[in-house]
Amino acid sequence: MMAESSRPSDKMWGGRFAEATAASVETFSASIQYDARLYRHDIMGSKAHARMLARQGLITEEERDAILQGLDEIEAEIDRGEFVFKPELEDVHMNIEKALTDRIGPAGAKLHTARSRNDQVNLDFRLYLRDEADALDGLLAGAQRAFARLARKYLGAVMPGYTHLQRAQPVLLSHHLLAYVEMFQRDRDRLAGCRQRIDIMPLGAAAMAGTGLPIDRQAVAEELGFAAITANSMDTTGDRDFALEMLFCLSLIQVHLSRLSEELVLWSTKEFDFVRIGDRYCTGSSIMPQKKNPDIPELIRGKTGRVAGALMALLMTVKGLPLTYNRDLQEDKEQVFDALDTVKASLAITAELLDHTEFKTERLRVATAGGFMTATDLADYLVRRNMPFRQAHGVVGRIVAFCQERDCELVDLTLADLQQFSELIGADVFAVLSVDGSVNSRLSAGGTGRARVEEALTHVERLLGITS
Ligand code: ARG
Repeated sequence: MMAESSRPSDKMWGGRFAEATAASVETFSASIQYDARLYRHDIMGSKAHARMLARQGLITEEERDAILQGLDEIEAEIDRGEFVFKPELEDVHMNIEKALTDRIGPAGAKLHTARSRNDQVNLDFRLYLRDEADALDGLLAGAQRAFARLARKYLGAVMPGYTHLQRAQPVLLSHHLLAYVEMFQRDRDRLAGCRQRIDIMPLGAAAMAGTGLPIDRQAVAEELGFAAITANSMDTTGDRDFALEMLFCLSLIQVHLSRLSEELVLWSTKEFDFVRIGDRYCTGSSIMPQKKNPDIPELIRGKTGRVAGALMALLMTVKGLPLTYNRDLQEDKEQVFDALDTVKASLAITAELLDHTEFKTERLRVATAGGFMTATDLADYLVRRNMPFRQAHGVVGRIVAFCQERDCELVDLTLADLQQFSELIGADVFAVLSVDGSVNSRLSAGGTGRARVEEALTHVERLLGITS
């Protein structure tokens, strides 16, 4: 047997190699610069694996204890920032395993029994993403709470509701704000579904065919708190569906944030002038002294590109990949990490910014006065007097045209003016033409009527654990 030191390749997998790896290859293929962030989960997985190996008689209890202690020491060293990750050791798995073997000797070299990096990296990534899913859920709930607080604070304030960005019908500001709570609730539900599919234990798939050694996958799953074990070793090592799903969840969260951001940008213009974002959350211009810019919502809107881009990138990486593990899959982590960092930061700052946003309720009310926004209410009034809706639509359309000619609003018309268009119109019509009358009449389930919005808000506050 050749002495260890005389081998041309010093890699942990270098036994069959006659030449050392080219420096360019080491640089090109290393992932340690970004996968080092998996270290806690890598160590957690290795400890569960080592305990199982000992229970199965594949290593001794002394070896297990040396491994567990060595891994704890390495983790503490990394936590303290003292551990030196080496690019020539490729990735987090090899860096930790090598450090362990250097530290405890032959027992360390037994850790990789019945395991491949192919199932190991899958395990680490799932453990990591399970925690991230929980962190994201907390951040989404935080954003929902910020919306709910605003909805409570401004309960009763009216504003124009828009379709096609044209004034459509008056609504309660709280109704608009609670729409975002619903969007984030769907994001949370979607994430919970994604988490269920993350929560399946892959270790034991080994390289891709399983192992001939007597392992106990179920026990590892239980120790690590997984709901189940994966069913097919080939699927397992080639599967990144859970990462793709997470990227889709992240993309849709960021898309939702971008819609809010766009509204905040618009609403803080002189043209709308609906909100005042706190100075601490805006920036100025280096040339125009008067400027106060909504850079934070703009950046959040802009970052949607990179998050959705990460989803596209990984979809394209996985497209056409033959089973099972291919090194292409190493491209998964940077995309997911970047998207996670971006969405988490965006969610956190959005909640803060909302807490520092004031709505100009007088301006919002004034904006409801123009644009014939109670025209639908007038049509509904005629419907209640038995006019077919299509006919009522036509009558009100002609009334609107009449107003436009005279440059006035519906409320400015006299009863006589209105009765020219239909004798079904009576003096009680003015109640439905008012903004408050309009809003409060919309009592259909999920509508903007005050009673409905109060119910919705109370429900949301209960779900979010807010006591008002
Ligand atoms: N760093 C690798 C990755 O992220 C770990 C798995 C390596 N497996 C292999 N057969 N080279 O995918």
